[in-house]
Parts: sequence; C-alpha cells; structure tokens
Amino acid sequence: MKVCATIPEARAACCDARTSRKRLGLVPTMGALHEGHLSLVRAAKVQCDAVAVSIFVNPTQFGPAEDLSKYPRQFDRDCRLLEKEGVEILFAPAVEEIYPGGAVTWVVVEGLSEKLDGRSRPGHFRGVTTIVSKLFHIIEPDDAFFGQKDAAQLAVIRRMVRDLNFPVEIVACPIVREPDGLAMSSRNAYLNREERSRALVLQRALQKARQQFDAGERIAAKLISAAKEVIAGEPQVALDYFEIVDPDMLDPVERISQKTLVGVAAYVGTTRLIDNLVLEP
Ligand code: PAJ
Repeated sequence: MKVCATIPEARAACCDARTSRKRLGLVPTMGALHEGHLSLVRAAKVQCDAVAVSIFVNPTQFGPAEDLSKYPRQFDRDCRLLEKEGVEILFAPAVEEIYPGGAVTWVVVEGLSEKLDGRSRPGHFRGVTTIVSKLFHIIEPDDAFFGQKDAAQLAVIRRMVRDLNFPVEIVACPIVREPDGLAMSSRNAYLNREERSRALVLQRALQKARQQFDAGERIAAKLISAAKEVIAGEPQVALDYFEIVDPDMLDPVERISQKTLVGVAAYVGTTRLIDNLVLEP
C-alpha cells in the first residue's frame, strides 16, 4: 500500500493506478476504521481494479462546540487494517496540506445542507461537500463509496455530483451493525457501558416505525409519534430529530407512497448518534 501525505504524491499514485489498471475506487473516511468502513473498502475492491482510501479528520465539518479535538485517531491500526484488505493507495494528508492559509472557497449544496443533520449542525455539510470535492479533484476516482448510515450526507453528495458534473459514480453501501443492532460508528467509542445500552433505543424506535409500516400504516405522523414514544422511554437520551423524508430531497412526507427514508438522531450523553432505515411500499 502506497501511503501518500501530500497532494502531488497522491495525484501521482492515482494517475499510475488509473493507467496500469482500469477503474479506480475511492473510499473517503475520517479514520478510526471499523467494519462499516471496511465494508465500503470491500465493495470497492469488488467493483474496481484499484482502491484508494482517504483518512482525514476534516476540521471544516465540525462545529465550534463539536468533538474535533477528541475525535478518535488510530492511524497505525487503520494502516494495518487497510493493508489487510489489499488497498493500493492511502491518502492521509495533514490539515495544512488540504487547507493552506487563506483558503476561502467553499462548495455548498443549498437547501439540502440545512435539512436533517444540517439543521442541527450548521455548516457541517458545507465542510463535507468541500472536502469531498477536493478529494474528487485530487484522486479523480471512477467510483466513490459512501455508507447509507449517513443518509443525508449521501443525498447531499449525490446532488453535488449531479449539479457540478463530477465524472464519478456514487455507490451507496448498506449500514453495518453490531450484533445487537447498533449502527457501527467511530463515535460509539465515546459511549460508556450504560450509554452503550441506552443507544439501542435508536434502533428500537426505527423498528417500531417499521413494524407499524409493515402492519399497513402509511401516515408518517403516526409512525413518528409511535417512534418518539419509544425514545421517550429512555429519558437519558435526548432526541434531535425523528423524521420521515424523501430520500433525495430530504423533505418530510405525509404519506408513505414510495421509497422513503426514516432517519433519527439523538444525544446519548454528549454523544450524537444517527441511524436510519428505508421503507419501500
Ligand atoms: P466517516 O464517519 O469516517 O465515514 C466514512 C464513510 O463510512 C461514510 O461514507 C460513512 O457513511 C461510512 N460508514 C460509517 N459507518 C458506517 C456503517 N455502520 N455502515 C456502513 N457505512 C458506514 O462520513 C465521513 O467520515 C465524512 O463525512 C467524509 C465523507 C469522509 C468527509 O469528511
């Protein structure tokens, strides 16, 4: 695996990979890798001839009161995991490499960036779309792999790719869960034992909505109130949102008549967790 810390090194390695092989896949991450990230790497290995992974804890997507400084960093362990998966290129730049002093240009997907997670994390998606655009320009992948776990992020990135004509195919990969159902996340490492067990309420709330849907309920407000009752049963968990939306526009739907995203975000202690499922009538 070629480890690149600078943009010229990464460009050269990706250029080589594209000429000597055919399809180049990119898996953008912030590191502290778990099975969710590795599932994207494996999907990329299947679909592409060479795979590049980026590890960059992107400061511009963290709010001033968020967890940038304590975000888990496990670079050596991450390298070993990626080596084992047969990844060809790892791009792991320093912050100054990506954001040289005086950088004032942003990529903003208007509207969509203020929905769901964007509403409670102002500026978050502006940071995500800016770094992902930069990665697309540096790596120039044919395919880029993202997790359905971050469903709003996926919608925002798809829109950016469409609106700005990036020549890249966005591939969505299913949510990988712990055996008890908790969606894997680098932030799960923040949870103490009690919080870890309380965190399961997100999954229970989603399942409640699914059960009612399976029983024939199609009114979104009914599913939402049933799910919110489940969350209220865990008073130490503070709900941020429980929403039923169109998966591309992220606008609330009243009646579920086509493919619909059910998303939840909640604070378990000080840790913000998200999860979702897709309903298809
Ligand atoms: P990060 O949280 O490290 O996630 C990297 C990728 O892994 C994202 O596409 C995310 O959706 C996916 N992922 C995380 N947990 C997953 C799970 N349990 N199952 C399936 N996929 C999962 O998302 C980011 O980083 C950043 O915003 C980034 C896109 C890298 C831009 O900085």
